[in-house]
Amino acid sequence: MEHILMELPYKLDALAPHISEETLRYHHGKHHAGYVNKLNTLIKDTEYEEMSLEQIIHQSDGAIFNNAAQTFNHDFYWKCLSPTKTEPSELFLKALEEAFGSLKTFQEAFTQAAIGQFGSGWAWLVIDEHEKLFIQATSNAHTPIEHHLTPLLVCDVWEHAYYIDYRNERAKYLDNFWPLVNWEHVSKIFENKEYLKLSTTVPFCNDPDNPICEYLDDMSRQGTTST
Ligand SMILES: [Fe+2]
Repeated sequence: MEHILMELPYKLDALAPHISEETLRYHHGKHHAGYVNKLNTLIKDTEYEEMSLEQIIHQSDGAIFNNAAQTFNHDFYWKCLSPTKTEPSELFLKALEEAFGSLKTFQEAFTQAAIGQFGSGWAWLVIDEHEKLFIQATSNAHTPIEHHLTPLLVCDVWEHAYYIDYRNERAKYLDNFWPLVNWEHVSKIFENKEYLKLSTTVPFCNDPDNPICEYLDDMSRQGTTST
């Protein structure tokens, strides 16, 4: 099974001025592509060759884990962004307010987690098996799906995500991340979280009548393809 670099769901210049075309060209075309290519090289003729990304993440370590997790994390990141303004659904907004007080206080806490992540990593909004929403920062390639948590939103805080546009000013990048968040996507995952919980053990849902299955299958197809 060869893993394929997912196509961006928007044009390279669509996120400007918040994230420039040059950043997307390097971030997607060089960094993300590099993880996918390296993963394919590393898994060739190994026990991981026929596994889904999620399976590799759960069963590997070292360079194979790093490149598989970075492939998954970037797939997820691109889908969390949108060039058009979106709003959280009523149900998701209510859950955010119950967990964090308000959308604004959630954003402040998430921003602090993203800025406070020492070195390279990711800031996430996740939901656990008890339906508790919380913010998590992970270092390097680490990802909530290692621990069977369901990610809802992510911000890439590796310097390659913002250095071209904002140099070392991660806080400015965060200011420009929020207008791009695809709340419709985040809300859709939240409202279908039962299915996403299964995704860590069942990578393909194959239910054509279910929108979240369609999403998961789509994500799997974009991330992997059989050869
Ligand atoms: Fe990245």
